[in-house]
Amino acid sequence: MIDIHSHMLPGVDDGSPSLAVTKNILARYVEEGVDKVICTPHQHSDLLRPALLKERFAELQRNVSEFPVGLYLGAELYYCENIVDLLASGQFLTLAGTKYVLVEFSTRHEMVYIPDAVYELSVAGYVPIVAHIERYPYFPLKQWAEVRENGGLIQLNASCFAKKENLGLAKKALKGGLVDFIASDAHGDVHRRVDFSAAKSFVNKKFPKYSDALFGSQNALGL
Ligand SMILES: [Fe+2]
Repeated sequence: MIDIHSHMLPGVDDGSPSLAVTKNILARYVEEGVDKVICTPHQHSDLLRPALLKERFAELQRNVSEFPVGLYLGAELYYCENIVDLLASGQFLTLAGTKYVLVEFSTRHEMVYIPDAVYELSVAGYVPIVAHIERYPYFPLKQWAEVRENGGLIQLNASCFAKKENLGLAKKALKGGLVDFIASDAHGDVHRRVDFSAAKSFVNKKFPKYSDALFGSQNALGL
């Protein structure tokens, strides 16, 4: 199983603060049956540092070889108008060097531009994955369908299955066949930790036909 959204690269964002915490996160991944993880530190137009992220990622790989987890580097990109230019110039990182990109949008502004932004990225040759859509509960479901029609994919955080207030959206999105990834968005080993248990039991019970696609050994990225 793969986790495509994780802030486990230590000391580069609001995720893991240290190698020790990252090792605890990796131990959780092993317990949860996750054998591939894409490290996705935050990047936004004022905080790019691609060389530093690559250097820290190489350092991490050297320090955690005892864990049977394949690690890849990517980023969680904060949407901005010049996102395509930043990707093309290598300033923004794609997921594991593929054409897949993990994108988050502001929750403070009108969200109607998300389908257009997804279209813009698709036309440029990328496959945008919209991160944690449960954060936009007021965004109509039909617009998420439009996101997928425009070449985008959709990710829910595993944690939203543990909160009753988010289950409605998760259920509707799954029912509509709109969910492509469930990811941890892990930030630490205590709070916002790796825990797929609620997500797995919900999907296995209510939507077993998606269990393999969401938690199986194959993934859309071909990793
Ligand atoms: Fe994140």
